[in-house]
Amino acid sequence: MKAMVQNKRFLSEKLCTLTLTGDEGITSASPGQFVMVKVNEAFDPFLRRPLGIMEVDGNTFTLLFEIVGRGTKMLAQKNVGEELDVLGPLGKGFSLFPSFGILVAGGRGIVPLYFLASTLARTGIPFVFLLGIRSREELPLLDFLEKFSPVFWSCEEEVPGGFCGDVVALLQQYLSSVSLPVGTRVYACGPEGMVRALCRVEMLRGIPVEVSLESLMGCGFGVCLSCGVEKKDGKGYYHVCKDGPVFLLSEVGL
Ligand SMILES: Cc1cc2nc3c(=O)[nH]c(=O)nc-3n(C[C@H](O)[C@H](O)[C@H](O)COP(=O)(O)OP(=O)(O)OC[C@H]3O[C@@H](n4cnc5c(N)ncnc54)[C@H](O)[C@@H]3O)c2cc1C
Ligand code: FES
Repeated sequence: MKAMVQNKRFLSEKLCTLTLTGDEGITSASPGQFVMVKVNEAFDPFLRRPLGIMEVDGNTFTLLFEIVGRGTKMLAQKNVGEELDVLGPLGKGFSLFPSFGILVAGGRGIVPLYFLASTLARTGIPFVFLLGIRSREELPLLDFLEKFSPVFWSCEEEVPGGFCGDVVALLQQYLSSVSLPVGTRVYACGPEGMVRALCRVEMLRGIPVEVSLESLMGCGFGVCLSCGVEKKDGKGYYHVCKDGPVFLLSEVGL
């Protein structure tokens, strides 16, 4: 679809949001799904870039991305009124009916979990949101969580009001202070190190953990085979784009 930039906002030097108006197709997006964005009309860079969907309102949707390389830098240079070629919504998202949700985001991993939190809040399902940031520069991400409660956050730098450390340590502190209802699910998205650390949290034994994975992607819909992640049993690979990006942590070999 063609999607027109309605709004652009820099949250920091490295974090940018774009709100775009697309077509009817985007209205069916569910939390955890993503889009493949062509960042340049010329084929340079050739490949589209995968980005999670943060918010959908009718045929308008919001992306939030970190500027890490050439593609995201070009995307951040788009201006209001410019059109982008966008494929999606793609992939399989999160399950939506836990009795209680524990949402664990690391940095830009807030994107699909913000969409999930908005959906759970609308349907009256209780949840807690834990966000981990690396430095003060990412503090503006906290503003998105003002409308949710309870919210706990951590920063690897010492910042007043936040837990000092990483979000997995914050999760462990949280888990040791509560008794969870049957049907609780954990939902996570963040850097690879965070996801690996989740695999080692003893207190999560017996609780289903759904994780949204990132991988390098060529096509976004199961054709190019560039996005493989090994199955837990070692018997082959999943395609992150088509079988995911959301998986049960117990299904993937990280
Ligand atoms: C399903 C999915 C959803 C995503 N959602 C978001 C999102 O909502 N917001 C966001 O900021 N980013 C998201 N990403 C990551 C984003 O796609 C990459 O950061 C982006 O493609 C990098 O493009 P680039 O041209 O700027 O960087 P490049 O020049 O291609 O690469 C710059 C650096 O980033 C690394 N990199 C590139 N792609 C990825 C990747 N997919 N995962 C990890 N490292 C990568 C490269 O190895 C390199 O070190 C998502 C990725 C996937 C697979
Ligand atoms: S990105 Fe092409 S198969 Fe997954």
